[in-house]
Amino acid sequence: MSNKTLAILKPDCVQNNNIGKVIDHLLNAGFKIVAMKMVKLTKETAGAFYEVHKERPFYGELVDFMMETRVVPIVLEKENAVVALRETIGATDPAEAADGTVRKLYAENKGRNTIHASDSDENAAREIGFFFSETEIIANK
Ligand code: CMP
Repeated sequence: MSNKTLAILKPDCVQNNNIGKVIDHLLNAGFKIVAMKMVKLTKETAGAFYEVHKERPFYGELVDFMMETRVVPIVLEKENAVVALRETIGATDPAEAADGTVRKLYAENKGRNTIHASDSDENAAREIGFFFSETEIIANK
């Protein structure tokens, strides 16, 4: 089990001025920030990141949404990080998310759901590599 995972604070989080609140929530849940940046995705980069969903009906909407404003990718560290982060953020649809989770507190709906989290150790490694170089992660001890 890996101790690192990737979160992305999505455009609705940025637009609603919730970056600080969500980061505070993650720190209070025991995650350590290993690396963080603010980036503007393009059709190509957002499309490549979510390529696994290419055949889904919501793919175009998802890519357009992720390009609306800058987003904030964050590498987070905690024991069993992938599972721990998914518990902390709650279900994809905020209507189904448990009380006290990030999405229950801040997400607008299933598409505009404030935060992305890797769903497996394998995807966490791929997604961290998508946004961060090895030196950006190793340097932050
Ligand atoms: P995320 O964890 O970033 O992974 C894939 C994303 O697709 C998911 O969060 C949602 O934002 C989005 N998504 C999943 N299902 C739907 C849906 N039915 N309609 C719109 N967006 C969706």
